Amino acid sequence: MTPVTPTVNVGAHTREQLLSPLAKNEQVRGAIDLIVNQLQMSANEITGTKPATQGGEQTLHAWLERAKAVRARGGYYPYIGSSRGRGALVELIDGSVKWDMINGIGVHMFGRGDAGVTRACLEAALADVVMEGNLQFNPDSVAFAELLITEASRTSALQHCFVTNSGCMANEAALKVCQQKRHGAPRVIAFSDCFMGRSVAMSQIGDEPGYRQGLTNNILVDYIPFYNPDMGERSTEMALWHLQECIRRYPGQHSCFVFELVQGEGGFNVAPREFFVALMQACKAANIPVWDDEVQTFGRTQSMFAFEALGLGEFIDVVSIGKISQACACLYTADMNPKPGLLSGTFSASVTSLHAGLSILTRLRDGGYYGDNGRIAKLHAAFRAKADDLVKRRGEFFPAVRKPFGRESKSVVGGVGGMMRLTPFGGEKDRIAKLLQNLFEDGVIAFMCGHGPYHLRFLPPIGVMTPADLNPVFEILEKSLQRSA
Ligand SMILES: Cc1ncc(COP(=O)(O)O)c(C=O)c1O
Repeated sequence: MTPVTPTVNVGAHTREQLLSPLAKNEQVRGAIDLIVNQLQMSANEITGTKPATQGGEQTLHAWLERAKAVRARGGYYPYIGSSRGRGALVELIDGSVKWDMINGIGVHMFGRGDAGVTRACLEAALADVVMEGNLQFNPDSVAFAELLITEASRTSALQHCFVTNSGCMANEAALKVCQQKRHGAPRVIAFSDCFMGRSVAMSQIGDEPGYRQGLTNNILVDYIPFYNPDMGERSTEMALWHLQECIRRYPGQHSCFVFELVQGEGGFNVAPREFFVALMQACKAANIPVWDDEVQTFGRTQSMFAFEALGLGEFIDVVSIGKISQACACLYTADMNPKPGLLSGTFSASVTSLHAGLSILTRLRDGGYYGDNGRIAKLHAAFRAKADDLVKRRGEFFPAVRKPFGRESKSVVGGVGGMMRLTPFGGEKDRIAKLLQNLFEDGVIAFMCGHGPYHLRFLPPIGVMTPADLNPVFEILEKSLQRSA
């Protein structure tokens, strides 16, 4: 398929040209420079991990109690930030400093206290409003969508963009676009172990019963097994067979097949291009729209869009993105363009999130991050080297991983790009949960992914993290593994 050139005059403005007249005023610029310099001086005081300061624990405890009272439950970690940090290091309200390898689950990809992001937010704060909407908006809303379309349309027919304020709402928009195109076809095809957000619809499609406990189930979902590397080509044949069975069983009743090209919550699972091509071709033959949920993958594989990295652009009808971009979006082809009235809402995104997003995306686009030799590929290679070395030296923490049907796997290092995983303790949930708490105490914040086996999950700040930063992180990890064994 020939990529369609967008009709909009994309890339015509730099972010700075979009600013309010006040933000361009020389004295105001001087004041912003001063603030950004002060921010950097404050951030530079943070040089490495440290324990809580005197009295810090009581302060943290008091805030945690307040948080527990308003939320009716405690959080996963005893975490409340101080609003200060530097790069991959974050300061907590107790004065302790930790390596942040999860970043709000993949949001703060230029880390903490970044001068460029803060400058963009300060400039955006001088706009006449806080939130932009679908009735009234400023040029930055348009430029944000243009940037996404320009990147996406290089290798796909994606041509239009609807901006939203969460990944879940981007997915809601995507589902509606697909359903309308297919005249309300009631069924959705999804992968086992997928995650899509927490709205009523997305909680039903996501493959985690705990997230839809007590909800009315009214979305009909057919699950297809994701790629299994132990089975190789046979896995592709099996998934294709399942898909064809679904199509045979319910002809004309599917509004879409939603793909996560790298499964996020499901375990940082990857698959080769041929796996997706086989399934997407079958969708095309049955006139089933292909929706690519890139909320977690967006920005962090070897291209800005994972579909580009995998060479799948020709098949994509709809894409949803979020997290790293600060504002979220649903992109679709001209052919999928819905009727007026389907997509709207009071808010699109805040002016600050649009400017922060523009700043982040232009830096990722222009800063040598992508491609086989880009910064993201190099960081991933450094992670693999450190992880392989740890596994080799401390094999006792990395027994074979238990898989369904009593199978075992020796593969304990995985993921792609800025999505990195490690599987200690055979992938046992409780032991990894304990490791996470010990890691937190020792100075590294990470998280879990997978549904069994479970994995240690890192979403490091790819914009600022260097391979050398992995050294102290792995030193702490080794100590925490020892403590958890
Ligand atoms: C693949 C995927 N889709 C959708 C979402 C939902 O995004 P949000 O939490 O911003 O609503 C997530 C969040 O983790 C995700 O990983």
